[in-house]
Amino acid sequence: MSLDLSVDLCGIRLPNPLVLASGILGTSAPLLERVARCGAGAVTTKSCGPAPRAGHPNPTVIDWGGGLINAVGLPNPGVEAEVEIIATAIEQLAPLGVPLIASIFAETVAGFAAVAERISTANPDLIEVNISCPNVTAEFGRPFALDPASAAQVTAAVRAATTLPIIVKLSPNVTDIVAIARAVEDAGADAIAAINTLGPGMVIDVESGQPILANRVGGVSGPAIRPIAVRCVYDICAAVSVPVVGIGGVTCGRDAVEMLMAGATAVGVGSAVYQGGPEVFGHIRDELAGWMQAHDYASLSEFRGIAHER
Ligand code: SIN
Repeated sequence: MSLDLSVDLCGIRLPNPLVLASGILGTSAPLLERVARCGAGAVTTKSCGPAPRAGHPNPTVIDWGGGLINAVGLPNPGVEAEVEIIATAIEQLAPLGVPLIASIFAETVAGFAAVAERISTANPDLIEVNISCPNVTAEFGRPFALDPASAAQVTAAVRAATTLPIIVKLSPNVTDIVAIARAVEDAGADAIAAINTLGPGMVIDVESGQPILANRVGGVSGPAIRPIAVRCVYDICAAVSVPVVGIGGVTCGRDAVEMLMAGATAVGVGSAVYQGGPEVFGHIRDELAGWMQAHDYASLSEFRGIAHER
């Protein structure tokens, strides 16, 4: 039986549904290419803002046992330098047939529009609008993703600033993620990414009695949050008609199947890359293919969203 793992995400073809989530390894063209060669179906850059930013001091990421906790603080070289990185990455990814998603953030609605307009000149395949980072609240205030009206405002501004497809990345740290999803869909989002990290959480070193992260608190990711991510994806897919990139704790082929059964069009992989290296994409892809073969599925659409049928 011939297997088709390909995905159409907003008119862009991915050779398989596995997407490098923003924030992990997406900081340079060679790293993005390496991840693509290891088997990712699309790659997302580290979120980029209007100006260069150092981020938080170390330690910024730790493995706490059930996954990761991070407060990296959105370090990035600024949009002008990022345009160069993306242009180079696109050249290197083109022969591999792996699309590039440019992730952006800003402190203000106007800032989002300006970064979207500038990043579009590098011609990424899609733009991810990161309105959900939980690690910069002290500087930026509450993430836009925590309120439907604010999330919609950013989405509408980015929509007006670019003709490229936009994916809005949502936060699980809300009481009603469906309300936010509907608001961004109505404001012009072409797709939704869910979820960003959970929390913030805290890990304390019991010998020193101090929080380990320099920022004290950070977003929690990895296997421990997967059931929450799956529920969010399931609820969003039941409520909107735009495609959803399901992200949160996916580490193996069965986890990817679960996200697809919840209705995801594509599946983000983040913390698993931190722990297993970029080769994890090839492993998850092969496990997904093996599972499909064992269950007589020839394409993803044959089981996507089946969890909604009962
Ligand atoms: C960070 O840079 O702090 C993480 C980015 C995010 O959570 O969106």
